[in-house]
Amino acid sequence: MEEAAKPGLSVEECVRRLKRYHYAIKRLHQIFTARITAEPLYELKMGFSLHAHLCAEHVTALRKRVSEMREPPLGLEAVPDPNLAAFFDEILSAPTTEELLLGLYEKAVPVLKAALERHLRDTNPLADQPTVRICRFALLELGDMLAFGAQSITALVDSPCRERLADWLSLLDDCLAATGGLDGTETPSGNSVQRRHSAKPYQYDRVPKRDHRFPDPYNMGVNAEVFLYDEQFPPEPKTLMMFYKRLREVDVPEMMASIITETQSKPWEYYRDMTRQLWDEARHAMMGEAGFANLGIDWPAKVMINYTWSLALNTQLKPIERHAVLYFIEQGLMPKTGKRFEWEVGVASHNPLAALFQDYDWADEVLHARIGRDWYLKDFKNPQEAVRYGDECWSRVLMNWENWRQQGLTQHRNWWPDLYREACLRWGIEPNPEVLAYSTTYQTVRADLKELTGSA
Ligand SMILES: [Fe+2]
Ligand SMILES: [Fe+2]
Repeated sequence: MEEAAKPGLSVEECVRRLKRYHYAIKRLHQIFTARITAEPLYELKMGFSLHAHLCAEHVTALRKRVSEMREPPLGLEAVPDPNLAAFFDEILSAPTTEELLLGLYEKAVPVLKAALERHLRDTNPLADQPTVRICRFALLELGDMLAFGAQSITALVDSPCRERLADWLSLLDDCLAATGGLDGTETPSGNSVQRRHSAKPYQYDRVPKRDHRFPDPYNMGVNAEVFLYDEQFPPEPKTLMMFYKRLREVDVPEMMASIITETQSKPWEYYRDMTRQLWDEARHAMMGEAGFANLGIDWPAKVMINYTWSLALNTQLKPIERHAVLYFIEQGLMPKTGKRFEWEVGVASHNPLAALFQDYDWADEVLHARIGRDWYLKDFKNPQEAVRYGDECWSRVLMNWENWRQQGLTQHRNWWPDLYREACLRWGIEPNPEVLAYSTTYQTVRADLKELTGSA
């Protein structure tokens, strides 16, 4: 009764604060997404993909709560305060990974967490229970994000580096002080803030980058699909090709991040759905990684994961054209030679992990098809036109297979026999000579098995 009788927050004050949390999480979503592509470290790419998704979900919940308490226009797209904008702009524009991590996980997420905890303390838990509920859910995942961030910072930021960045970190504190705290409950400092990294508008870097575990990123020397759909080959080695295909999907978040970042003025649900798919594709990559790890295979040494697809799409196509290619590829995954087939191979292979991963990969793809219908297809006269446009956009993409070799970017080394031999050792079997001899590349056959004419 004591709790239920406390003065709490008026609806007006509650909504005012909610809009600031909403703005903060929306900006975090933007930063996590925008920094996936050019971040070389694989774990950070994956972590940012997850955290972008979590933020997108909490933004959605906060928008809904505001809409329960107010009539439109809700003012959810308004910037609550220029100093709060400067705070997030600075982190978005952080020139190094170290600054980005400190800004995100030692400044932005902690102050957001503190603001939500304060909301729980300040509000009347009976009158404002629906807000209490979403704050508690958000706090749970903000806690996960902070744990990941703390581990990343321990691994990547030493004390000299932190000292070098002390000035900039206090600039972030100044931004918060000038806006009266993230939730605007304190008296603003009245000091003006000098932007540093964000003095010039942020430039998204659409060129994907990878770390040392991707030593041959132009290698297109092993055509996974031709092998997978060849009936003469048994299912066991096909699981290796499927793990390879999954892990190679690290290029989908790199590419989808570019669509999300460079597409403005869509309804919020577009960003939420696209970010869910982005995270799913990051999960698919990690399923491939787990598949290799489970077999005891050192994938960075044995499997050459390339980035040619995200690189080509991000640098050669406009955002809508990239979405068209994505849609075109994904609508081709539903028929016979697609996700069902991959799952059947997994089941037949007696590798339970391959079967499990393909089962969920297939389920995710059903969701992605729905997202494609909702956000890509409906801008076309009919589905045929949408598919034709996707096909046309993909056919325009130049994959310079031969050029890359001539420029010395790759030798398209056939790494397959090495990987297969290693897996046979783990399985305790003799290599099958035909499987071992497989040597089809992507020079003339694309991943959707389309024959390429010309040598572009
Ligand atoms: Fe996928
Ligand atoms: Fe997908």
